Amino acid sequence: MQKIIAANWKMYKTRPEAAQTARELAGALASGLPDGRSVVIFPSFTNISEVADVFVANARVAVGGQNVYPEAEGAFTGEVSVAMLKDAGASWVLTGHSERRHVLGEGDGLVARKTAFALAHSLNVMLCIGETLQEREAGKLNDVLLRQVTTAFAGLPADQLEGRFAVAYEPVWAIGTGKVAGPAEVLDAHAVTRAIICDVAGQIGKKIPLLYGGSVKPDNAAALLGLDNVDGLLVGGASLAAQSFIQIVKA
Ligand code: PGA
Repeated sequence: MQKIIAANWKMYKTRPEAAQTARELAGALASGLPDGRSVVIFPSFTNISEVADVFVANARVAVGGQNVYPEAEGAFTGEVSVAMLKDAGASWVLTGHSERRHVLGEGDGLVARKTAFALAHSLNVMLCIGETLQEREAGKLNDVLLRQVTTAFAGLPADQLEGRFAVAYEPVWAIGTGKVAGPAEVLDAHAVTRAIICDVAGQIGKKIPLLYGGSVKPDNAAALLGLDNVDGLLVGGASLAAQSFIQIVKA
C-alpha cells in the first residue's frame, strides 16, 4: 500500500510563514518524493489556499483542512464548510483529532457526522482515533478503539472508501509530549484497529491506510514505517520545519 506522510500544522504559521515552508517543501519534493509515498499537508484554514497554490502542479502532494462543519452552509459562527475548504484548494480533511475531542469537546457523534458529511461531499477524510493515558492504564484501549471506529463508520459507504479515507491512530499521551509509542504498542493498536475496520467495513478494510501519529520525528520515522499495518505517519511538531518533515517523508 502507498504510504501517506501527513503534516498537521495545527494553529501555527501566518500566511507568509506557511508559504515559505510550502516553497521549501516543494523544492525538496519536486524530485525527491520517494516512490510509493504521497504527502498531505493540513495547514490552518487561512493558509490552505497559500499552500495549495504552491503544490497545484504536484499530484502527489495534497492539502487538507483540520476541521469541517457537517452542514452545507448556515448560521454556524466560527465553522468552515466543505465548499469553502474545496474552494481554497483542500481535498482532504481531518476529523476526530484528539485536540478537537479533548480540548474542544467534540464527541463521537459529531466526529461521525463530520466524517460522513465530508465523504458524501467529495472530500477525502483522515479520521483520528486514540486513547488517553488514563484509558490505557485502565485497560480500555481496545474498547476506546472499538467505540471510536464503529461510531465513525456507522453509515459510511464502505464501497466508496478506497483511496478516499484513512485512519490515524494517535495515542493522546504521545501527542506533542515527545513520548512516542513503542513498537509493541503501535503493532498492537494497529492490529486491533485493522481488525475492527475489517469487521465493520468488510474486505475494503484491508485497503484503508492506517497511519501512526504522536511525537513522530526524523529519527523514529523509518522504524515506525517499517511496522506491520503502519501505512503512513501523521506528524505535528516535526512537520513545522521543512527540513525535518522532508527527512520524515524520505525516511
Ligand atoms: P505531534 O502531533 O507529532 O506533535 O505529537 C501529532 C498530531 O497531533 O497529529
